[in-house]
Amino acid sequence: MMRISMSLPKKLLAEFDEVLKDRGYQSRSKGIRDALSDYILRYQWMNEMEGKRVGVITVIYDHHFTGVMESLADIQHDFREEINASMHIHMTHKYCMEVIVVNGDVTQIRELTERMMRLKGVEHVKLTSTANGESLDREPGLESSHDHSHDHSH
Ligand code: NI
Repeated sequence: MMRISMSLPKKLLAEFDEVLKDRGYQSRSKGIRDALSDYILRYQWMNEMEGKRVGVITVIYDHHFTGVMESLADIQHDFREEINASMHIHMTHKYCMEVIVVNGDVTQIRELTERMMRLKGVEHVKLTSTANGESLDREPGLESSHDHSHDHSH
């Protein structure tokens, strides 16, 4: 095992500790190890997808953060071929949520997702993807959830 030290915002750490407590973790290190594994798995899952996909990207951002709304709009205009629809929800005084329905090649969908993830002011981006209609026809009875075997709900 390696030892590392890191700086974290107080609030993030407090929230993390709260989750660990709820889940019955005895050790913060174990919690951090599991969180890192989940992060890596999620990234790998996203990178392993290929072909045409239908999906939903959920983006939560602080609309007061300078330039973030313009950047999100610019990026989405670059991917208008892949974006079928989007919905904007004014979640709180500070945060907005955008739900973007995408349909297209997964390399494009992934690039769209990652460009939005990198923006400052964006707090959370999640891509949920299901196979497109054609593969569902080939596999009758299979729910889209079979695509989420690595996408833990906890
Ligand atoms: Ni809003």
